[in-house]
Amino acid sequence: MQNLLVTGGAGFIGCNFVRYMLDKYPDYHIIVYDKLTYAGRLENLQDIQAKHGSRLRFVRGDICDASAVDGAVRAYKIDTIVNFAAETHVDRSIMNPDAFIQTDVYGTYVLLEAARKAGNLRYHQISTDEVYGHIHGDHRSLETDCLAPRSPYAASKASGDHMVNAYHITYGLPITISRGANNIGPYQYPEKVVPLFVTNALNDIPLPVYGDGKQMRDYQYVMDHCAGIDVVLHEGKIGETYNIGGGKEMTNLEMVQILLDELGKPASLIQHVEDRQGHDRRYCMNVDKLMALGWEPQYTHEEAIRATVRWYVENRWWWEPIRNGEFKQYYERLYGNRRVIA
Ligand code: NAD
Ligand code: DAU
Repeated sequence: MQNLLVTGGAGFIGCNFVRYMLDKYPDYHIIVYDKLTYAGRLENLQDIQAKHGSRLRFVRGDICDASAVDGAVRAYKIDTIVNFAAETHVDRSIMNPDAFIQTDVYGTYVLLEAARKAGNLRYHQISTDEVYGHIHGDHRSLETDCLAPRSPYAASKASGDHMVNAYHITYGLPITISRGANNIGPYQYPEKVVPLFVTNALNDIPLPVYGDGKQMRDYQYVMDHCAGIDVVLHEGKIGETYNIGGGKEMTNLEMVQILLDELGKPASLIQHVEDRQGHDRRYCMNVDKLMALGWEPQYTHEEAIRATVRWYVENRWWWEPIRNGEFKQYYERLYGNRRVIA
């Protein structure tokens, strides 16, 4: 493993993964292949480019474009594909599922075909705990649980996972899959709840908590996720899936309280609004399988939230232009007429 094609590497988790891998493996070269949708930004890679020079290259392209993907695989002698590229926001998938099916399903197929045609390259798929659906009682999802996705986003990611497994079983493609929890940290587009609430609070705008705010999520620091992906890539068993999460959940309201405390902002900013359609109540995964390979998280949930808040406080240069651009129309569309319930 030396020449990695990291698709979606200009997005939130992808750019942190590129940072992590180039720092850790001095002989690796990474080609970021990214369409630069609203969520992909070259600014996310600028410090890494300055530090690592030609060990990082950028190709603008769509994972649905088979000839462009094949061309990049050939031109850069790729031996490993790590697929982060996806449409990722549940609320956008509810408003318009089309791009999710294109990229997360068809795009995954295109990458698998590229890996197969190039001589069965090593392939790793970045997936999500959302494919398990919402979890009842005190169960923690196991990698062997049946998939029960409930949003168009989750269903498209689950379809991708099925296709990845099918390529392993049918063609012997050397694959692994990892399923991450709710990641937070630097460079997350401010549509996702933690950066949305931090940047709202910094502007004294109310925080739109969906429903009662008692939904449970496992908020995980992005670098813990990246370290887990690294372990799966190097130590994971071919054909297997690994959960990556803190293994412990908290309610959204608990998350908000920590966030407001770190900012020194009042709880009066919390505004309960009409719930998300089909909102999954709880995600939580069992992560024993990955821990058996030697991985363990370095951040508690609270440390992860506080570190993320501090990054947004210190990096207005990154998020203010986003919030002042097309994001304004998105925000108005999703929240403008949303019913306030408390
Ligand atoms: P993101 O939305 O921040 O970034 C997605 C990236 O993919 C962007 O750079 C975008 O330009 C690129 N992209 C989108 N469509 C593309 C296409 N057709 N061709 C090429 N590039 C395309 O997403 P993220 O939060 O960094 O998530 C990355 C991956 O991790 C996704 O597969 C997501 O499902 C998965 N995941 C995310 C989380 C989370 O909490 N954010 C948790 C678990 C798993
Ligand atoms: O669990 C992993 C998943 O986490 C990833 O696969 C997805 O790509 C990522 O977007 C994330 O999905 P969620 O739907 O859990 O994340 P989001 O940040 O949108 O919402 C987190 C929780 O906060 C969820 O219970 C909904 C709630 N929420 C969200 C928004 C945007 C609010 O209460 N208000 C909001 O305005």
